[in-house]
Amino acid sequence: MEIIKTVDLMQQASDTIRMSGESIALVPTMGFLHEGHLMLMRAAKDHCDQLVVSLFVNPTQFGPNEDFEAYPRDTQGDLKKAEDVGADVMFMPSAKEMYPPGAQTSVVVKDLPQHLCGLSRPGHFDGVTTVVAKLFHIVKPHAAVFGQKDYQQLAVISRMVMDLDMDIQIIGVPTVREADGLAMSSRNSYLKPEERISALSLKKSLDLAQRLFREGEKKAQVVKDFVKSYILEHPYTEIDYITLCDPVTLEDVNTLSDGTLMAMAVRVGKTRLIDNGRLVK
Ligand code: PAJ
Repeated sequence: MEIIKTVDLMQQASDTIRMSGESIALVPTMGFLHEGHLMLMRAAKDHCDQLVVSLFVNPTQFGPNEDFEAYPRDTQGDLKKAEDVGADVMFMPSAKEMYPPGAQTSVVVKDLPQHLCGLSRPGHFDGVTTVVAKLFHIVKPHAAVFGQKDYQQLAVISRMVMDLDMDIQIIGVPTVREADGLAMSSRNSYLKPEERISALSLKKSLDLAQRLFREGEKKAQVVKDFVKSYILEHPYTEIDYITLCDPVTLEDVNTLSDGTLMAMAVRVGKTRLIDNGRLVK
């Protein structure tokens, strides 16, 4: 696996791959890799000849009071995991390389960020779309792979790609979970053992909502209230949001239907966790 740290060298490497007639898949990450990230890489390898993984903890998508400084990092472990999965290139630029002084351009998707996580993390998605657009221009992939665990991120990036005619196939991969149901996340490493038990309430509440829907409940408010009190029965939990919404526009719905998205962000202790699922008949 080749390690590339500069924009110039990455662009040259991608040009060489493209000229040889091979296709490139990109998996953007912020590192501290887990099985969720590795599933994305495997899916990417199924789609393209060459796999480029990027590792960059992007400062512009963190708010001033968020965990940028504390974000878990393990570069050596990440390099080994990516290599073992068969990544061809690891692109790991510095913050200076990605944001040289004087940078003043950003990519802003207008409406989709005005829901779910965008409401409690103002500016977050502008940081995400800007860095992902830059990574697309640097790596020049034919396809890029993202997790459905970050449902809104996948929706916002898909919209950006459509709106700006980026010639890149966006592939979504289902959420990878621990054996007990907890959605894998680099931030799970923050959880204390007693908090981890409470963290299971997210996935359990998605299952609960699914059961209510199957049993005939159609009112979003009823399901939301039920799920809210279920989660709050668990110690250390504080709800940021629980939303039942249209899976395309992310607008709230009052009446549930096949495919309605239930998405949530819950703080467990100091750790903010997200999860989501689609209701199916
Ligand atoms: P990060 O949180 O490192 O996640 C990188 C990719 O892994 C994202 O597409 C995310 O949805 C996916 N992922 C994380 N946990 C997953 C799980 N349990 N199952 C399936 N996929 C999972 O998301 C980011 O980084 C950043 O915002 C980034 C896109 C790299 C831009 O900076």
